[in-house]
Amino acid sequence: MSTAPAPGQPSGQMPPPLSRPNTEVTPLYGEEFAADPYAVYERLRKYGAVAPVEIAPGVGAMLVIDYRAALDLLHDSATWSKDSSIWLDSVPEDSAVMPMLRGRPNALFTDGETHARYRKVITDSFARLEPHTIRQMVREVADSLIASFAQDGEADLVGRFARVLPLLVFNRAFGLPDESSELLIQGIAGMFDSKTPEEAAAADAAYTRYITELTQLKQRERGQDLTSWLIDHPAELSAEEVVHQIVVMLGASYEPLSNLIGNALSRMLVDDRYYGNLSGGALTARDALHDVLRNEPPMANYSAHYPRRDIYFHGVWLRAGQLVLVSYAAASTQSGRAAPGESTGAAGSGGGAHLAWAAGPHACPVQQPALLIATTAIERLTAWLSDIELSVPYDQLKWRPGPFQRGLVALPARFSPVSPDTAGGTPWKRSSSPSS
Ligand code: HEM
Repeated sequence: MSTAPAPGQPSGQMPPPLSRPNTEVTPLYGEEFAADPYAVYERLRKYGAVAPVEIAPGVGAMLVIDYRAALDLLHDSATWSKDSSIWLDSVPEDSAVMPMLRGRPNALFTDGETHARYRKVITDSFARLEPHTIRQMVREVADSLIASFAQDGEADLVGRFARVLPLLVFNRAFGLPDESSELLIQGIAGMFDSKTPEEAAAADAAYTRYITELTQLKQRERGQDLTSWLIDHPAELSAEEVVHQIVVMLGASYEPLSNLIGNALSRMLVDDRYYGNLSGGALTARDALHDVLRNEPPMANYSAHYPRRDIYFHGVWLRAGQLVLVSYAAASTQSGRAAPGESTGAAGSGGGAHLAWAAGPHACPVQQPALLIATTAIERLTAWLSDIELSVPYDQLKWRPGPFQRGLVALPARFSPVSPDTAGGTPWKRSSSPSS
């Protein structure tokens, strides 16, 4: 990172002045950005490593689009803080980006020892969740979802599978029976997708009720589950802190995990090397997931950071406390991007490093469990429905608008119906399942 001496102090080479006249601001919301964010990132490269953007009407941010600069920021906690308080004063309370940026007492929004404490609670709790338990939970959840549409011969694989599976899996991992997931789905899915303030309020109420009931139940009666391990962790979280860690786990997992599964499926369906693979080709579900992480990261732009003082960073003056985001998508594809159908996967060239999990002290702490959930889910789906194809051309798929995520609105697909009467061919007869 290049920081300048304080103005007025001697310097070998003074940076340019603070103001940058005639700078247009590029929106990272709306249909145009959702349809082709990569074209927008390319246009932003004229600014260099850091570009001015707008993440909601009237809400500006600086976006780091250069790989080296992104690493410099993510590894330098002495210069950068996750504390949003100064910046928040300048943003309308009802702005659409508030839920993603308003600080809370959890790992995402804290620094130093406070951050280390919250993060350890999460990593220690996930470490107790055995891979075979995760695999088994995902298999059962995936099978029940597949059973709900397998006979139809067609389904929206995002709405019926990728966006529901993570919530059902987490509901189990938190220690609740499947029936309780209804409230969670209403709550969290509603919060992301509600179109009116009334819908948003109802979703919020359902989410709060879910988490309150969950934590109260587990305070009374522990089990072998994430909630109980959070409560009993030697860090001795207060009841309120436990709630905040559950909120961040759900919030940080739902959108990226759904998008990881959906984006990987969409790439598999337009690339013969994957789909051929189902009957013995070259690339696997895991390759598709790495292809997505490298070329279409499910979280496209995040890692909200704020400079602790005025700094000169990779060619730009930044004010103390101003919002700076990292574009994992732009930084990871700076030296080229494989479009769907040209996917490289682990077997091809052009793989390379990416920032889909961020980097440094706030890098995603749950990468291996997340990959295991996504891999198992996709393997299960493609094993049961072995001839899935897209119902619409890939370039007509719609992407969810918004500055932070890259994920599909829907993935309409068709396949040969699988009937419950077909011996050995049904996802809900576990004794005959293909991969258990
Ligand atoms: C099992 C599912 C997941 C869980 C429970 C989870 C949880 C978390 C948590 C708690 C953090 C905050 C860490 C910290 O600040 O120290 C985090 C950060 C992050 N996660 Fe995950 N995550 C999951 C899946 C994913 C997936 C699938 C992706 C995308 C490929 C992803 C990308 C990220 C990124 C980019 C960050 C950094 C965010 C920032 O610093 O602003 N996560 N995750």
